[in-house]
Amino acid sequence: MTFPSPEATLELLRGRRSVRRYTAEPVPEALLEQVLEAGRWAPSASNRQPWAFIVIRDAAIRQAVAEHAAYYFLRWAHVDEAPVIIALCGDTRNRVYRQFLHEDVGLAGGQMMLQAAALGLGSCWVGGLEKDAIGQVLKLPAHIELVGLLTLGFPAESPEPPARKPLAQMVHYEVYGNRSPQAATAGHVITGPLGVLLRKLRLRVRF
Ligand SMILES: Cc1cc2nc3c(=O)[nH]c(=O)nc-3n(C[C@H](O)[C@H](O)[C@H](O)COP(=O)(O)O)c2cc1C
Repeated sequence: MTFPSPEATLELLRGRRSVRRYTAEPVPEALLEQVLEAGRWAPSASNRQPWAFIVIRDAAIRQAVAEHAAYYFLRWAHVDEAPVIIALCGDTRNRVYRQFLHEDVGLAGGQMMLQAAALGLGSCWVGGLEKDAIGQVLKLPAHIELVGLLTLGFPAESPEPPARKPLAQMVHYEVYGNRSPQAATAGHVITGPLGVLLRKLRLRVRF
């Protein structure tokens, strides 16, 4: 298998932008399929793939969704404008795995945005939403949670990259607070005798 070069990969990762202005040009089916396919191949906890991706192209349904794509008094204009909205949802029925739902859906959405960028499409994650109202518009059953929306379409803007903090502000080595790549000692986890016993009984697994 050949992957894009590390340089090309980093260029895509750095070059993807949240696009909030779209042309009216419809997104060809083949491109949309590739974006969805990128989501399908995302990792998920225990490979449970709890996703439901709702592709919304119908103008009336998009409009109804856009009315509730709001964060307090801000309504996101790009949700009105995008020719495609993908509602990124997950199945909450498994009580053990529902704790990973947001990671699973977030990773799928991230992959979709990158594939969109590689295809020359713009996208934007929209998390500031009236989720219950949108759930009603989309007829979501009780066990399907809406995590976010992705707007998708051909970009009508090329935004400047918003600044990123330097790595030095986010990277710690070995333990939190150690900013230099020097050796450091781990913190102690204090648990009772029961915790020690349970840890000793744990099986090591390799999948
Ligand atoms: C979880 C999440 C929620 C977001 N919610 C919104 C939103 O409600 N409206 C919006 O316009 N952008 C939203 N964004 C996009 C961010 O504002 C954007 O990713 C950030 O400013 C960095 O810009 P970039 O994506 O161009 O690198 C969201 C992004 C994430 C990851």
